[in-house]
Amino acid sequence: MKKILVTGGLGFIGSHTVVELQNAGFEVVIIDDLSNSSLEVLKGIEDITNKRPEFENLDLKDKSKVITFFRTHHDISGVIHFAASKAVGESVEKPLLYYENNLNTLIYILKEVSGLETSNFIFSSSCTVYGQADEMPITEKAPVKPAESPYGNTKQIGEEIIRDTCKVMPHMNAIALRYFNPIGAHPSAKIGELPIGVPQNLVPYITQTAAGLRDCLSVFGDDYPTPDGTCIRDYIHVVDLAKAHVVALQRLLERKNNSNYETFNIGTGVGSSVLEVIKSFEKVSGQSLNYKMAPRRAGDVIEAFAHTNKANTVLGWKAQSTLDEAMQSAWDWEKHIRNL
Ligand code: WQD
Repeated sequence: MKKILVTGGLGFIGSHTVVELQNAGFEVVIIDDLSNSSLEVLKGIEDITNKRPEFENLDLKDKSKVITFFRTHHDISGVIHFAASKAVGESVEKPLLYYENNLNTLIYILKEVSGLETSNFIFSSSCTVYGQADEMPITEKAPVKPAESPYGNTKQIGEEIIRDTCKVMPHMNAIALRYFNPIGAHPSAKIGELPIGVPQNLVPYITQTAAGLRDCLSVFGDDYPTPDGTCIRDYIHVVDLAKAHVVALQRLLERKNNSNYETFNIGTGVGSSVLEVIKSFEKVSGQSLNYKMAPRRAGDVIEAFAHTNKANTVLGWKAQSTLDEAMQSAWDWEKHIRNL
């Protein structure tokens, strides 16, 4: 059984990916420092898969601990690197924290991974690298635009660090997955998103408002040049996103990759406006949401949705869930954690 290291494996996307990896027959070892996650997630993963993954509470900023980890784990066949800070607004306030958390850790891990006999590496990148793309849907060939935030910059620089490393290390094999907007939760409602404090992202804000934790959702801008005036994004069910990691990993393990550094968009290919997301929520929950129009939020792009042809044909992966299904799972999870 091949052993896969998943950093940030107790986080939102990480935990769903651990489930899919175990379902696909991989053995998983998780590294997580619990800075934005909880040990209870391990129990959720175990309940779903009947298997408790190996877990190490380790801060990847501690270089010597990273070195020791790889010295004591010779049998790692691949690494999926999720661990990172992800609050866009916080990154503007604390740029050095973000550069340290997201880039130092990446470098320490890559140094160790590149020393392994088989160096298979998957990186969590983001559609944020495209900024406001000139054409929709966005292909992987669209230019990378100057980042709007230190968080976005860590994704761009992270990709460059991996690309440059792969150039001089032919035995390294890496894939960067550029996620569009992950939402939803496992259909079992045993794992899901656990935002700390006031959610910055749309879907947890919606479900928390409906659950009574927030008074009202502010729709940031209704005067955008889109059909209903609100911004358009490509919302992808987190389970579909998790499955994309499994197929990307299989591609690396089977050496099917065309070059030793590849990028893929991971989205549904469908753009939905903020108002369409709200409507979907109201439909699946059977309740109306308290929301109001508010000014635009600084840094928001007008629209972003993926061209998924490369992922569909090269990876053989396609998102399966509809927006309604994703919203249903997000609502089931919110009800579960609030005992509703
Ligand atoms: C979606 C839409 C908002 C909240 C961000 C990061 C990106 C990635 C995912 C992750 C926008 C609107 C939101 C609210 C609203 N990072 N909105 N009211 O901005 O597309 O992407 O998260 O790790 O890098 O930039 O996602 O969910 O914040 O916003 O109207 O209270 O919902 O304006 O149009 P975004 P989001």
